[in-house]
Amino acid sequence: MPRLWQADIQTVLLTERRIRRRVRELAGELTRDYAGKDLLVVPLLTGTLMFLADLLRHLTLPLRLDFLGVSSYGAGTVSGHLVLTKELRLEAQGRHVLLVDDILDTGRTLAEVQARMAALGPQSLRTCVLLDKPARRREPVQADYVGFVIPDLFVVGYGLDYAERYRNLPFIGVLHPRLYQGQEVARQPAAEET
Ligand code: PRP
Repeated sequence: MPRLWQADIQTVLLTERRIRRRVRELAGELTRDYAGKDLLVVPLLTGTLMFLADLLRHLTLPLRLDFLGVSSYGAGTVSGHLVLTKELRLEAQGRHVLLVDDILDTGRTLAEVQARMAALGPQSLRTCVLLDKPARRREPVQADYVGFVIPDLFVVGYGLDYAERYRNLPFIGVLHPRLYQGQEVARQPAAEET
């Protein structure tokens, strides 16, 4: 791990190499499943950015792309409220919609987004997430495509943040608990906090 991150990152959970291989596999599955279909990829801002970019370059089929801006929590606060920060621009009705997100945690975000998307009348609606943390689930939500099922650890990097930092790490690491201990954490509290 680069020295820059050593003070903040306890361990590397998923290396660049592992992520790269798995993302290619997922893209292969998606390419097969959506061949010949009118695909609309709808990534959720912002954490999905690296996963999305890597996934897209291996999706070898025609598709449209439109971002949905959602934030499950205000800056640094604990809340179950979903704030819409960017609406869809493209028509979803009659299309095969694939939601893409970085992490499925409590499931509150996806539960609400899936319901909103379903109301737009897509021909099909599926979800692809890079990380699934089932131990934290509060809503009965599942993803159709999952990169990695991970334990209840506070992970950052490869798009995922803590207080808007660490998104640019090329790997996924476990944040050192001293960085958030004693604070109310908006998402992904470590196992010992729950
Ligand atoms: C994160 C993540 C998911 C959501 C998962 O988004 O990108 O969308 O939380 O948590 P949940 O399953 O408990 O709802 P966040 O609101 O932190 O925004 P970000 O993508 O901009 O980091």
